[in-house]
Amino acid sequence: MNNATDVSTITAKADREFPIFKELESHLKESGKLKNVKIGWHCHLTAITAVAAKCLTASGADLYLSECTPATTEGSAVEQMRLDGATIHLGPDSPKRVLEHDPSIISDTGLVLTEAYLATSKRKSSSTYGASEITGSGISRLRNLKTIGLPVINLNDGVIKSKIENFHGVGDGLVEALALVSKRSFVKETATVVGYGQVGAGAAHYLRRTGVNVKIAETDPVRALLAHYDGYALGSLEDGLISGSLLVTATGKKFLISEELWQNARNDLTVVNLGHWQEEPNLAALEKVSKHQENLSKAISTYTLAKTGNKVHAYTGGAPANVALLTGSIEPTLLHLATEILTMDYLVEAGQNLAPGEQPLPYKLEKEVSRLALRALKR
Ligand SMILES: NC(=O)c1ccc[n+]([C@@H]2O[C@H](COP(=O)([O-])OP(=O)(O)OC[C@H]3O[C@@H](n4cnc5c(N)ncnc54)[C@H](O)[C@@H]3O)[C@@H](O)[C@H]2O)c1
Repeated sequence: MNNATDVSTITAKADREFPIFKELESHLKESGKLKNVKIGWHCHLTAITAVAAKCLTASGADLYLSECTPATTEGSAVEQMRLDGATIHLGPDSPKRVLEHDPSIISDTGLVLTEAYLATSKRKSSSTYGASEITGSGISRLRNLKTIGLPVINLNDGVIKSKIENFHGVGDGLVEALALVSKRSFVKETATVVGYGQVGAGAAHYLRRTGVNVKIAETDPVRALLAHYDGYALGSLEDGLISGSLLVTATGKKFLISEELWQNARNDLTVVNLGHWQEEPNLAALEKVSKHQENLSKAISTYTLAKTGNKVHAYTGGAPANVALLTGSIEPTLLHLATEILTMDYLVEAGQNLAPGEQPLPYKLEKEVSRLALRALKR
């Protein structure tokens, strides 16, 4: 569990600079819809989540939380959320334990809670109104499921999540993470960004703004063409491992880099994952082909390859670096959390009438979040 972030500092910063949760709390109290509603939420348990959780418990919701990964769980945030009235389960069986509370609304990150719910309840239960999913990885997995006995709102493809959080929030967080952890400039050096969805595109944009020579590795020809017209050279994962000094993964796929590919990595390569899964860069495979591993800090581990003696520096144990290090402006994350919460409020009334399966995020909710955000920005 990571104890690095001070919850009171983040709360004070949010209240001072972007008080969207104050606006949202008044809105939820007025609507009263979440009062005594049981909410199961699978998410990163960070100080920013604590700000959102407080807004929910203050609005009368019964909140049950499970952790995405211990790598992003902050001890002080967990403590604060418990003090604010949330029930928090930790560890690999935490989603199962949240479901034992029989939540009426499920809010998910990576489709973990929803999938566990669907596995135990094949039909839509009258006490569960609906779910929402915030990640691209979760939406891909949802689309591969045969039967979905529950409406699941796709938050990832909303404008706020995809264009503000995924693009600007993550890109900004990547650049800050590099400055914080590597404490060196990558100006004029070559970085390969693997995956050109909104996350990869934002990472590429922010790296280029800091003077890095960015190449894109993308398997989808449409996205690769888009990267070309956005002005990037096209590369490959293989080439990024042997020729660049920075490799950023943003595909949402697990086990992207095989042992065979890791063996040929160039000396002093820095690898940063931004994708949802800690397993995306496959550091287990890197470990297997290394003769030595040294943890320079919690944020960076250096592996010495057995074959060549080359050193590879991997960030945050493979967990998405901006989330694990809480880097970047907090505004995009507060915005997506506010969207998640307004969706919970919406599902209480609308969930029972929605058809099962993937549902788009109603634009009226994005308008409402944006109105609250614009008011918060004017303070
Ligand atoms: N770090 C964060 O704060 C944060 C925020 C939002 C989303 N995410 C996560 O980031 C990941 C990417 O999100 P997105 O919305 O950009 O997803 P996306 O699915 O739109 O884009 C991923 C891209 O990767 C490409 N790809 C897949 N396998 C590849 C491979 N082997 N080589 C090259 N390209 C490959 C796909 O073709 C696709 O274009 C997801 O896991 C998402 O959950 C992280």
